[in-house]
Amino acid sequence: MQMNDFPKIPVILDGDPGHDDAIAWTIAHGSGRFRILAVTTAAGNQTIEKTTYNARRVCTLIGLKAPIARGCSHPLLADLMNAPSIHGETGLDGPALPAPVMEEEPLPAVELMARVIRSCEEKVTIVSTGPLTNTAAFLLSHPELRERIGRISLMGGGLGFGNWTPAAEFNILVDPEAAKIVFESGVPILMAGLDVTEKALIYPEDFERIRSLGNPVSGIVWQWLEFFYRFHRNLDYKGAPMHDPCAVMALIHPEIFTMRDYYVQIETGGDYCRGATVPDWYGITGEAPNATCLVDVDREAFADALVGLIAAYGKGVAE
Ligand code: RIB
Ligand code: CA
Repeated sequence: MQMNDFPKIPVILDGDPGHDDAIAWTIAHGSGRFRILAVTTAAGNQTIEKTTYNARRVCTLIGLKAPIARGCSHPLLADLMNAPSIHGETGLDGPALPAPVMEEEPLPAVELMARVIRSCEEKVTIVSTGPLTNTAAFLLSHPELRERIGRISLMGGGLGFGNWTPAAEFNILVDPEAAKIVFESGVPILMAGLDVTEKALIYPEDFERIRSLGNPVSGIVWQWLEFFYRFHRNLDYKGAPMHDPCAVMALIHPEIFTMRDYYVQIETGGDYCRGATVPDWYGITGEAPNATCLVDVDREAFADALVGLIAAYGKGVAE
């Protein structure tokens, strides 16, 4: 079957662009596999003002004409944390982007989520690549629509380790209370945690493959990769870890991942482990699994698929 032979999955893209969010959205749109109903922005990598401006710029670059709405400016309870050391002061430092032609919708993200989920004839997948504040706020504000969410495919957590503290990954740590609400919601979760995203590496030679595609989007993506890799190269990474793209790629090419079902709890207390995603490896709690967790990936297949999805922009991506 060709990519376009598959039925399109109705999705909401929720994230905090952010270089890897931008690449995740780029491959989602380029794949032709999704009916992107809405784009909603989260505060995380940068402030909500900056991530929303970046969302407008990314959607303009890739020609994604879905409605864009600004999300919560702060976590549910915690103080806001940003990540300028990784994504820069703008949240999307690096190549100059076209001025945004996409405007924000005049309603908050939670209400745009409700509008598109209520009117979609199928269940909607939420693809979350930032802190889970918006998704949690939506679940709290519209419990009557919970059953209309088919799945939440999220980048977040780590079954065995963190990246912002030894125990916690950034997206979960920014808003652990929101993550707890989402993981306890009963909505099926596809979790791309650090266990897999740190293996989904795009090597410098892959940057060159993308640069040589020579289309308007590939010319930006390779520079995003190059910028994102600067931080990681200093930590002896062999390539740029594609955290957020894993939450999209797992929906397009599940066959290149290894997945395991676990009951995952979110630590919201503690001095050392707040924000940890704690898997019940041996079923000790007796609770049924609440998350399908990505635990391994065929890196070469991942890199080839990502290059192929960026190449799609040279052939005219469906509006
Ligand atoms: O820990 C990685 C996650 O934090 C990614 O979503 C990245 O964009 C940042 O938000
Ligand atoms: Ca992100």
